[in-house]
Amino acid sequence: MSTFERVAAVTEIPPNGRKSIVVDDVPALLVRIGNEFFAVEDVCSHDGQPLTDGPVADGAITCPRHGARFDLKTGSALCMPATRAIPTFAVQVRDGEVFVGPAGAELPPAAVAVTSTAAPPVVTADIPVVSAMVSSGDHVPTPEPGADDDIRLIEALKQVIDPELMVNIVDLGLVYSVNRDDKKIYVEMTLTSPACPAGPQIVQQSKMALERLRDVDEAEIKLVMSPPWTPDRMTDEAKDMLGIF
Ligand code: FES
Repeated sequence: MSTFERVAAVTEIPPNGRKSIVVDDVPALLVRIGNEFFAVEDVCSHDGQPLTDGPVADGAITCPRHGARFDLKTGSALCMPATRAIPTFAVQVRDGEVFVGPAGAELPPAAVAVTSTAAPPVVTADIPVVSAMVSSGDHVPTPEPGADDDIRLIEALKQVIDPELMVNIVDLGLVYSVNRDDKKIYVEMTLTSPACPAGPQIVQQSKMALERLRDVDEAEIKLVMSPPWTPDRMTDEAKDMLGIF
């Protein structure tokens, strides 16, 4: 992406809210702190955990897995175990719309500050929108259901890691079915145990992982406990990782 692209309306994101976006096919997170917006790559530089649900405080986001913190403005790693910065993107607001562009792009004066959600400032700089069709979401082609689409959806779900076992939910065998109805995805999945404390986090991250895809508007995640999960649902790779032979 060489120019700015629309990613959200200002009114979509309340103060201190956030939205998962995609920038150049890379998952990113748009965070609003008060009246400022920040965009960072949504992948922890320590071990790839999505930062989507990480707590935000003092201008930094904390990785929900091992606790690394990243400055939302610069992307720099503020504490161990991360030692590398995460990529950041420039953010621009125009006519109540939020645009994200390449890091380091020149921003016109007063580009980032938003005075209120009701009356965002009008920035008159000429910011080209790379792809109005894509950014509006109105003309993103929905792929035909088929093997390629199934693989894409499964790959997206593989980004979700069970925080107890540190293995992705697909290789753990937690995902029972994935179905598409146009731009809505229906997932049936389970947990390693009904009392799994990570359940809400896994469900939320699964939803976010799918909704990051450009051709997905909504993902509905249904937890089912029948049939119950058993270790033999795991792939050999997952078993290897957990030392089960
Ligand atoms: S994966 Fe983020 S701190 Fe380890």
